[in-house]
Amino acid sequence: MPKPPALADLFPEAAAIPPDYAATLPCDSKKFLIGGELRTWDGPMQEVHSPIMVRHGVRHGAELKPLRIGSCPVLDGDTGMAALDAACKAFDNGRGVWPTMSVAGRIKAVEDFALRMAARRELVVRLMSWEICKSLADCGKEFDRTVDYIRDTVAALKELDRASSGFVMEQDILGQVRRSPLGVVLCMGPFNYPLNETFATLIPALIMGNTVVMKTPKLGRLLIFPLLDCFCEAFPPGVVNVISGGRAMLTSIMASGRVNVLAFIGTSQAADAMRALHPKPHRLRCVLGLEAKNAAIILADADMNQAVAECLRGSLAFNGQRCTAIKMIHVAQERADEFLERFCAGVARLKVGMPWEPGVDITPLPEPGKTAYLRELVDDALALGARLANPGGGEARETLFAPAVLYGVDERMRLHHEEQFGPVVPVAAFTKIQEPLRYVSESSYGQQVSLFGSDPDRMAALIDPLVNQVSRVNLNSQCQRGPDSFPFTGRKDSAEGTLSVHDALRAFSIRSLVAARNVDANKAMLTAILNGRKSAFLSTDYIF
Ligand code: G3H
Repeated sequence: MPKPPALADLFPEAAAIPPDYAATLPCDSKKFLIGGELRTWDGPMQEVHSPIMVRHGVRHGAELKPLRIGSCPVLDGDTGMAALDAACKAFDNGRGVWPTMSVAGRIKAVEDFALRMAARRELVVRLMSWEICKSLADCGKEFDRTVDYIRDTVAALKELDRASSGFVMEQDILGQVRRSPLGVVLCMGPFNYPLNETFATLIPALIMGNTVVMKTPKLGRLLIFPLLDCFCEAFPPGVVNVISGGRAMLTSIMASGRVNVLAFIGTSQAADAMRALHPKPHRLRCVLGLEAKNAAIILADADMNQAVAECLRGSLAFNGQRCTAIKMIHVAQERADEFLERFCAGVARLKVGMPWEPGVDITPLPEPGKTAYLRELVDDALALGARLANPGGGEARETLFAPAVLYGVDERMRLHHEEQFGPVVPVAAFTKIQEPLRYVSESSYGQQVSLFGSDPDRMAALIDPLVNQVSRVNLNSQCQRGPDSFPFTGRKDSAEGTLSVHDALRAFSIRSLVAARNVDANKAMLTAILNGRKSAFLSTDYIF
């Protein structure tokens, strides 16, 4: 087999970057959106660099330099508060144009936004790929999935609205029950799905009539700039406010007590710190997607082709930087050698390279200090007796990290319980099924499990306890969020709230009803309101 190229040689020389990919750079924008106005920031800016390093000089020993790809505003606390003021004004205690608009009106605005957004696809996809180094193909998929999510959300809301467009009569009381908004939402997505996961809370929050302050993720900030004017044109002033900046800004926003919903995808530590700042915690609803340490359990009778293929994708797609990634593999002792040999052969076939290369699997890591952190995890496991199962695994150069498979990982090692969120795959062999079951139940997290096996009796006996420990049991399949119509949630420190297309509409709204005693005067009044289409809430209109 030919010797794989040194990691340093996988970084490009400037001239080797495809011109159409480079054409989007640099993206320097001082813009932010508050109160329907695209404002220009004249304060400090943050330089943005790509995880892609550029090679200077001769091969082997060449110098690698970070590539500047743009800059974005570092807004201050006052500006954060101005964004919050604008969202509060647009909600206006539920009296604003947006929260009192008909469902059909809000759907029209969201559809208008989706059309405008779709026209910016190429630019958004490239900026995303430059900044987080997800492959260009996967950034395209993330964009398309997000547009589909918006369309599916519209369809789900129409269905919800149709189901609640009638009246009920109980104990001689007439009522119409609908869902109404909660107020002002602070919405923050993660770096690994900066568009999709942010919009998976933003869009349902908006369409249900809430107003939003959206803070861009720490990484994945540039891609939002091409969308700012789309927000501005599609929504009434103050309904969506988009800001970027640091923790100080968030502290003032949360400590104001004026945020009604915290929609946050990130670490439980950050979520807890933000929630604790709210002076009236019971007035704050939290919709949170947090850490996970999903386990794969491979039983002795598993179809090994399937288990290896699913575990490869499940643990190493986008370098393992998915909250749903398989982050610990338990394999039955009698199949462990076979699994390791085939899994490591699969890892060796993965293509390491730059995000524009067709078929690339492993790309540079965007989080500062990430390769050093992963190396620490590997060294810790090796020092405590684990074995590196794939030669060359764990080698790193700048932001590139060669995937490492560690065998014999046990509870003394950090890799056993820490969420690595990167291309390191811990594997342990078990002799009794109680061992992986104990791992799942003692874990701080409870998102998903992948279970590989073929005996229906055995599988059924494991499904029943596992569904009470995690929120999704995947049979002979990797862990994943999709399809987006499926509920996405977690137990313990993994999530709060549920986010399918359908569930998210509920997470960002509360049931409200109008009720009246069934007497002639009330019936006449209700008829007049309905026939005259005098209320957006009290309505029997059918949205086609
Ligand atoms: O990072 C968490 C994502 O929601 C995972 O989504 O399973 O579709 O990659 P995915």
